[in-house]
Amino acid sequence: MPHLADCRIMSNQEIAPEHYRLTLHAPQIAAESAAGQFCMIEVRPGYAPFLRRPMSFERIFNDGFSILYRVQGEGTRLMAMMSSGQVLNIQGPLGKPFPLNPTYQRHILVAGGIGIAPFPALGDAIVRTLGKTPEIVIAARTERLLLCEKDFRQMGCRVHFVTDDGSAGEKGLASDGLLRLNPGPDCVVYACGPMPMLKAVHAVCAARGAVCYASLEAEMACGDGVCLGCVVESNVEVEYERMVRVCKDGPIFDTRIIRWDAY
Ligand SMILES: Cc1cc2nc3c(=O)[nH]c(=O)nc-3n(C[C@H](O)[C@H](O)[C@H](O)COP(=O)(O)OP(=O)(O)OC[C@H]3O[C@@H](n4cnc5c(N)ncnc54)[C@H](O)[C@@H]3O)c2cc1C
Ligand code: FES
Repeated sequence: MPHLADCRIMSNQEIAPEHYRLTLHAPQIAAESAAGQFCMIEVRPGYAPFLRRPMSFERIFNDGFSILYRVQGEGTRLMAMMSSGQVLNIQGPLGKPFPLNPTYQRHILVAGGIGIAPFPALGDAIVRTLGKTPEIVIAARTERLLLCEKDFRQMGCRVHFVTDDGSAGEKGLASDGLLRLNPGPDCVVYACGPMPMLKAVHAVCAARGAVCYASLEAEMACGDGVCLGCVVESNVEVEYERMVRVCKDGPIFDTRIIRWDAY
């Protein structure tokens, strides 16, 4: 059951151009949250901006959680101006977490840009719950936007960088980085990033027989399954519709159930 809580900002730091890490004191929400789930942030009380903004949990602590966000529009611009001690009203946890399956030999995370956001919590969960060390592809437009390297090195992960402009690691796309890791049926791949990237990662996994779970994004209003504002097209029928709600049925989906040719 999601909570609605006023949460104090512990810190809000710019970690790369236009990219911030916000840490909130929220023990009640943190106690029930898992990697892959998200919260909805009321950026400012009142009607502007009108809707809460969905954000994934980056890391989950005993007394709260952090999020990583990129300044995108009005809501995130307002968030970037906040400082410690201020209070935000948060709804969460929402959605379903990443499934953790011990039968796979290899756990590969593939992040595109700010799609890195839910992966520190997932990496922690894989290490602590499954006793395995994930591998990660971190892809971004350019070197300055490759985030969280230290976090994954501390977990003992193999880190592979991919940049659009070749300024660090391999020049190419996130899916090229995944191909280099030679995924196969012994792998589970977790992906988060823009839709075209997820589509390409799904295609690699389907061709190599690897299962893939993707964290999807959609614009959201209620965040709790009611308004149908966040649906994406699916290959399977859910309650007579070939549509799934990103907020309630996801945001994590086995990529085989998404109708990728619609995107
Ligand atoms: C489940 C979920 C988890 C998310 N986690 C994170 C996260 O951890 N870090 C992060 O930086 N972002 C995350 N997002 C995206 C984030 O919610 C949007 O970037 C944010 O709501 C934009 O708000 P804004 O007011 O700054 O921009 P707006 O002024 O509302 O919009 C500016 C631009 O962003 C686009 N946009 C708005 N909402 C979304 C959205 N939900 N997804 C994609 N594009 C959008 C609009 O189409 C527009 O082009 C997540 C989205 C979802 C659905
Ligand atoms: S945002 Fe309302 S149903 Fe998903």
